[in-house]
Amino acid sequence: MQGVDPAWLPDVAFRPIGTRRTLIRGSGPLVDTVHGEVAGACERFGGRVSRESGSYDLVLELDGDDGSEGFVYERGDGCTTVTASGARGLLYGFFHVVRLGETAFLDDARRASYRPESALRMLDHWDNVAVHPVMGQVERGYAGGSLFWEDGRARGDLERVRAYGRLLAACGINAVAVNNVNVHATEARLLTDRIGEVADIAGALRPYGIRTHLSVTFAAPVVLGGLASADPLDESVRAWWAEATARVYAAIPDFGGFVVKADSEGQPGPFAYGRSHADGANMLAAALAPHGGTVHWRAFVYNHHQDWRDRSTDRARAAYDHFVPLDGEFADNAVLQVKHGPMDFQAREPVSPMIGAMPGTRLAVELQATQEYTGQQRHVCWLGPMWSEVLRFGIDGESSVGASARGGLVAVANVGDDPFWTGHPLAQANLYTFGRLAWDPNADPHHVLDEWIRLTFGSGPGLAAGLRSILDGSWRTYEKYTASLGVGFMVQPGHHYGPSVDGYEYSPWGTYHFADRDGVGVDRSVASGTGYAGQYAKPWADVYESPLSCPDELLLFFHHVSYGHMLHSSKTVIQHIYDTHFEGVAEVGAARERWASLVDLVDPARHARVAERFEEQLRSAREWRDQVNSYFFRKSGVADERGRTIY
Ligand code: GCU
Repeated sequence: MQGVDPAWLPDVAFRPIGTRRTLIRGSGPLVDTVHGEVAGACERFGGRVSRESGSYDLVLELDGDDGSEGFVYERGDGCTTVTASGARGLLYGFFHVVRLGETAFLDDARRASYRPESALRMLDHWDNVAVHPVMGQVERGYAGGSLFWEDGRARGDLERVRAYGRLLAACGINAVAVNNVNVHATEARLLTDRIGEVADIAGALRPYGIRTHLSVTFAAPVVLGGLASADPLDESVRAWWAEATARVYAAIPDFGGFVVKADSEGQPGPFAYGRSHADGANMLAAALAPHGGTVHWRAFVYNHHQDWRDRSTDRARAAYDHFVPLDGEFADNAVLQVKHGPMDFQAREPVSPMIGAMPGTRLAVELQATQEYTGQQRHVCWLGPMWSEVLRFGIDGESSVGASARGGLVAVANVGDDPFWTGHPLAQANLYTFGRLAWDPNADPHHVLDEWIRLTFGSGPGLAAGLRSILDGSWRTYEKYTASLGVGFMVQPGHHYGPSVDGYEYSPWGTYHFADRDGVGVDRSVASGTGYAGQYAKPWADVYESPLSCPDELLLFFHHVSYGHMLHSSKTVIQHIYDTHFEGVAEVGAARERWASLVDLVDPARHARVAERFEEQLRSAREWRDQVNSYFFRKSGVADERGRTIY
């Protein structure tokens, strides 16, 4: 598409297919999509595509259509074959060949099956139709306006949405929610009289195997239907939802379902009627069930009017306390969507103890690709290693988070109408990595990064090595110059960009660090704190309970310790704070230099955009370093062992 960054699907990635002869077998809309892709590649590079037998280099065959998403890949006797028994499988098999590039036609490969670990791999867009006075159009969006909505309605020209669907399919994503979980007045109507606009978007995404979902307000029967109540057990309310849902399916037959943020940060929910969250979710599940839809019910429920003087209330406990007692009560097509950590997408959090604690409930795990707390797409922060750690975490010492997410993996999207899709061009790596890890949570994120680099930038060795060194450790670098040892926040209130150590310390939001002259951190032990550590299964409950066994990187999340407390790294807490902040800034400086050295190897517009963002990242990292170091020096009175400048 003109004027839009091709991201990981530049034309040249299609050369290996486009110069060869391809046979496509099977029929249906997704086969047509694959055919269109191959035909386009052949037009550009001189190859041939056919639907009739003959001699071929590549055979793409759909054999039945059982709705499955896997495919079988093999190469022998000079021919590469992809076979699928579901249409999406053929699409994913085709992109597998694209990813392999020339290798797909050079190296023999034994028959191997590929299929996604999780059936739902979804992006939640926090997009508003109307521009919100405080949040702008995309809540926590750092890539311009919405891809879907423009001038108060669905875009007339949906070419970009189609191109987006193509990028998503190429990394394995199969579902998109098209509006913000905070559903404002205009957006509420997408469910009813404005469903046609959602249908248009769904139509642009469908050719790439992507189902469309919608965030709805729990109060819809009142605000849209004129009913007196939204009580989930009230028959007239249930009938309203059943009818509204049937109309949605009349407009969008393959509609995915609803996403609901209820009783959370001011959104309406079942508590107002004395009902449980299972009652609320099950009402919507009942409306969706006849049509094969799913409700994604978010577990981000906590008290955001906390009194900072009250140390017994712990926001980290909230999701578990609210939802675990309801295990087994949720309908089969209700999925509880839980953030990966117990707080809110900080650069470092433990895994939510809810994951694994609800064996009778389908859970979806939510990650945040949009970099709200990780540099807002002005900083390079590749989140692959963080997500991989989360997904591979053994919750009871065994079963992993990835395997427990039976309801799917979800990420809050990081794209907008920015020409580079993600504002910071290197933030595309997060989107790609999410898709690939959602497909295979055990994949090595570094392989995924290499794959992204090769597809997006080609395989020039100098460029690939440079990019790898910039991105690889960027999350740990970010962690170093921001809040230390898992304590979190310390961001500026409201927009959450840049440092403000005490920004949330006396606020109602429940995100405190409790620094005083002697020490810092939150005591969440069972023995003397909020008891949060006890929400974990063994061995983690024991590991986190004691500061002696708690991993350094989470120490201040679980414990209040003195500045002189010795870490496993053999540094004191205070010296760790100083050292990591100096190191973090130095690492940003080195990455910036590295990027500058790639100037002749990268497209000029892309190079300039990243270079400009590096200036801001360095400025901001220094600000973080100096504010955090000065704050803790002033609180503790302990000097830096190495005598560096602290203000
Ligand atoms: C964070 C974020 C909000 C968002 C919320 C959510 O608190 O700052 O903008 O609405 O998460 O996940 O619902």
